[in-house]
Amino acid sequence: MIIAPSILSANFANLEKSLQRVSSAEWLHVDVMDGHFVPNITIGPLVVKGVNTLSNQVIDTHLMITDPYKYTEAYAKAGSDYITFHIETVSSPIELIKHIKSFGVKPGISIKPDTQVEAIKELLPFVDQVLVMSVEPGFGGQSFMHSAIDKIKFLDSLRKSNNYKYLISVDGGINEETSKLVKAVGVDVLVAGSYVFNSENAEEKITSLR
Ligand code: DX5
Ligand code: ZN
Repeated sequence: MIIAPSILSANFANLEKSLQRVSSAEWLHVDVMDGHFVPNITIGPLVVKGVNTLSNQVIDTHLMITDPYKYTEAYAKAGSDYITFHIETVSSPIELIKHIKSFGVKPGISIKPDTQVEAIKELLPFVDQVLVMSVEPGFGGQSFMHSAIDKIKFLDSLRKSNNYKYLISVDGGINEETSKLVKAVGVDVLVAGSYVFNSENAEEKITSLR
């Protein structure tokens, strides 16, 4: 099980200290929001660059922006290992997947709670990660939406029957209880923000998720 703490819930008055609190996690999840696709503005390439100098963990950049093609290069050069975009924001996803790969970065695709797996089916052979949103994107600390479970189950069966290679990630409201529900249906990566960072002992929470 890969744990990816979302730095959206980190303390941005002292990011270095926050990152030290989650050093046992395999990945760091970076939530990029532009105030258009979602009603919040968060992290630019400069912060990814800073995170990249502070840590050797895998940087899992989640673009919740209306023009992911335009900013792919900046986030790639800042040190992203994965760049995940939302199917709801692009008209030619295959082009963007190729563009992400041209920088040696692994492409991921994400679907909002209202978007079905069918919307990304033709992309599955080409992506390294499918990020299932279990909250409406935009903010940390929301409650888990159980509709994510059937999507994960379906993605796991598609992966098995077609021998696809993507990792299945879930993002939003992940805690000790909800992590059990999604593990049972084939998830590989647990993104968690508030559950990890809003606790006394972040490492303990990471262990409990694992
Ligand atoms: C929401 C972000 C999530 C969020 C998760 O738009 O994509 O990654 O930070 O936060 P929690 O784990 O607190 O729901
Ligand atoms: Zn996210």
